[in-house]
Amino acid sequence: MISFEKLFPYVDYFVVNVSSPNTPNLRALQDKEPLMHLLSELKYANGLKSHPKPILLKIAPDLTDEQLDDVIEIITKTKTDGVIATNTTIERAMLSTPKVEVEKLGAGGISGKPLTKRSTEVIRYLHEKSNAAFPIIGVGGIHSADDAIEKLKAGASLIQLYTGFIYEGPGLVKEINEKILKEGLYGNA
Ligand SMILES: Cc1cc2nc3c(=O)[nH]c(=O)nc-3n(C[C@H](O)[C@H](O)[C@H](O)COP(=O)(O)O)c2cc1C
Repeated sequence: MISFEKLFPYVDYFVVNVSSPNTPNLRALQDKEPLMHLLSELKYANGLKSHPKPILLKIAPDLTDEQLDDVIEIITKTKTDGVIATNTTIERAMLSTPKVEVEKLGAGGISGKPLTKRSTEVIRYLHEKSNAAFPIIGVGGIHSADDAIEKLKAGASLIQLYTGFIYEGPGLVKEINEKILKEGLYGNA
């Protein structure tokens, strides 16, 4: 709440990031009760402002379907403005690097290509199960224009890229924009 009040004059929107694997115990805030409490309090404080700002929730790709159902319920009940799906993953099973090598690298979140499929699955699940009740910002392993289109077709209203921007360079944004126009997705996105 302190951060919310201090940042309020400077931001266009807020993201409640309870999904980083790098902060101990942070992801426990994605459980139903603490999440409901956190978002309700923020929505209440936001509602007291003359010009409230959008508040979005950013989730992990490692949530189960039951946890995603809870997210849908909480977002709908608290009228939170949208979901950012997803953060990095703690899953290692999809990596082709030998297990011993991976273990040497230790804990932490994986971004980029190993995440593409799972983050799209999460977007699709939220979109279909909620009947498109809220906007989803799709993020996770977008390394090509096709990856971006897949996220949009799965139900994302907007997309973000981080790792793809580093590996593929800024030209990727142009490629994505051109493909969105070509596919006639402008307006959906
Ligand atoms: C080095 C690094 C730092 C990140 N820091 C944050 C952060 O502070 N807050 C956050 O919500 N997500 C953070 N993320 C997650 C990304 O915003 C993004 O959700 C994730 O990497 C998946 O997208 P990508 O595959 O395009 O990188 C970070 C990711 C990386 C690789």
